[in-house]
Amino acid sequence: MKTLIGLLAALSVIMLFCSCESSTFPVEAPTVKDNLSFSLDIQPILSSNCARCHYPGNILPDLREGYAYESLMEGDGITPGNAEESELVEMLEGGGNNPMPPSTKLSPVNIELIKKWIDEGAKDN
Ligand code: HEC
Repeated sequence: MKTLIGLLAALSVIMLFCSCESSTFPVEAPTVKDNLSFSLDIQPILSSNCARCHYPGNILPDLREGYAYESLMEGDGITPGNAEESELVEMLEGGGNNPMPPSTKLSPVNIELIKKWIDEGAKDN
């Protein structure tokens, strides 16, 4: 009997924990560092998540290392200093009718890094 009560108690604690986790706490954007660098922080995300589709002769913008910055800035998807106004961010967050990448989604940290980089002026640094 004692074991049963113990088990039930443990179970309710677990259930309580699970329900809190899913409903009570708002999902917060992850915190990322300041002063991001395009080549060190952003390009690696593009190289591993986008460049397999985005290269000349296939799909533009060209998101390979050495070409991505210029190619991205030629379009109007990025509003330097304003991630919320940037169409690219909407695509990364899966909004609109053009989510990128098309079937998977970047991790929340990677999306936040790109947003921060745009908010910091979308510099070629
Ligand atoms: C599986 C292939 C694939 C991957 C991976 C992919 N894309 Fe795309 N992307 C496409 C296709 C196909 C198009 C063009 C068709 C369309 O507009 O839907 C496109 C279009 C775009 C455009 C141009 C939209 C326009 O209106 O001109 C941008 C910007 C873009 N992708 C960014 C990205 C970024 C950033 C990543 C990585 C986070 C990414 N894509 C990953 C296939 C891909």
